[in-house]
Amino acid sequence: MGRSAIKRVCKKVSKKEPASPSKKPAGKNKDPSPDPAPHHTFTSEETETLRKELLTWYDRCKRDLPWRRLAAAEMDANRRAYSVWVSEVMLQQTQVSTVIDYYTKWMKTWPTVEDLAAASLEEVNEKWSGLGYYSRGRRLQEGAQKVVRDLGGQMPRTAEALQKLLPGVGRYTAGAVASISYGQVTGVVDGNVIRVLCRLRRIGADCTSPPVADALWNLANDLVDPDRPGDFNQAMMELGATVCTPKRALCGECPLQSLCRAYKKVELESASSIRNLVDRRADAPIGSDIEDCAAASCSLCMQPSDRWDGSLGVANYPRKSAKKPAREEQTVTCVWERPGEQGAAEYLLLQRPQKGLLAGMWEFPSMLLEKACTMKEREDILCGRLQEVSGCEVSVKDLQFVGEVRRPLTT
Ligand code: ADE
Repeated sequence: MGRSAIKRVCKKVSKKEPASPSKKPAGKNKDPSPDPAPHHTFTSEETETLRKELLTWYDRCKRDLPWRRLAAAEMDANRRAYSVWVSEVMLQQTQVSTVIDYYTKWMKTWPTVEDLAAASLEEVNEKWSGLGYYSRGRRLQEGAQKVVRDLGGQMPRTAEALQKLLPGVGRYTAGAVASISYGQVTGVVDGNVIRVLCRLRRIGADCTSPPVADALWNLANDLVDPDRPGDFNQAMMELGATVCTPKRALCGECPLQSLCRAYKKVELESASSIRNLVDRRADAPIGSDIEDCAAASCSLCMQPSDRWDGSLGVANYPRKSAKKPAREEQTVTCVWERPGEQGAAEYLLLQRPQKGLLAGMWEFPSMLLEKACTMKEREDILCGRLQEVSGCEVSVKDLQFVGEVRRPLTT
């Protein structure tokens, strides 16, 4: 009857919000970190140029995306904020191309925050199925319920209030929703913005470190265009997603090339290697780098142990400390099959608890193994579990081993 499989699961710990070292407030609050060196910041002239060049490029090149159409056409602030909130949550850790379809179906099913609040968790999980990081969908629905139940159906109107009042809304989502749907002048920092800013200002220290994260939020808040904050933030993210990409950046198409210190460094390096090829004297000077920090202890500069890699070009930035290896878990799972009344097979499914990992989702009976177990121990554990949930006598000889699967798991 039962077919058991042992699943090895490498659990990726879910990243909740990008680049927020702590629960820092959204908005214009400055951190008390020491002022960064001038070459990690922008002069007011550079800020003006950046805004103008970036927004001109965005107006010409922005992708036509369903959440942008909705936000542009929706006159009702509540509906607009809800539609932007859904898109921003879906876009965390998921590619735009994947999100488009999910977003369109979601907004057709639940066009308002009231509609989502009235949905069941099961319906939400079903619509989210395949997007990964399932807690995002659950949090959205909990937030919608809170808006309807406690806030009279009104979405919070500022980044600070969004972050404070809605579960799962961190600094990034709050800033994105407030700037795009209400025009609040507040910056955002996500993975794309981190890359763009680290390259523009040659911030080469670990971008997950608190001083770098603080500096990036300060830069984003200083740069955001006061006349078009939502477009500015989307343009920064768009540039990171389509031009200033992680590996093969399209520097030739970048509207901010003239402001980019990583690009300048690449040019200097290549000019100096050409010069050194021509002048092969051993004591020929290597390319002097006028823009390096005078202070060896700068918390934003690349550390001396992280050497510049000429083959990477601008992709030397940003730097991240080595990833922690994924946590490994082992579960044992049983597919219990029996002939159904209509002839087709029936399978035993159990619902997971309403809290925690994959809350409320249905699954084949599974047991998390606490330690490395022998096959015999696994079979005994599984039989015990099956007896417990079915009330039937289950014997080890009823089980048939199917195989072992390894897969990464997102929550
Ligand atoms: N990534 C996340 N949100 C985005 C947005 N609104 N525009 C472009 N890229 C994004």
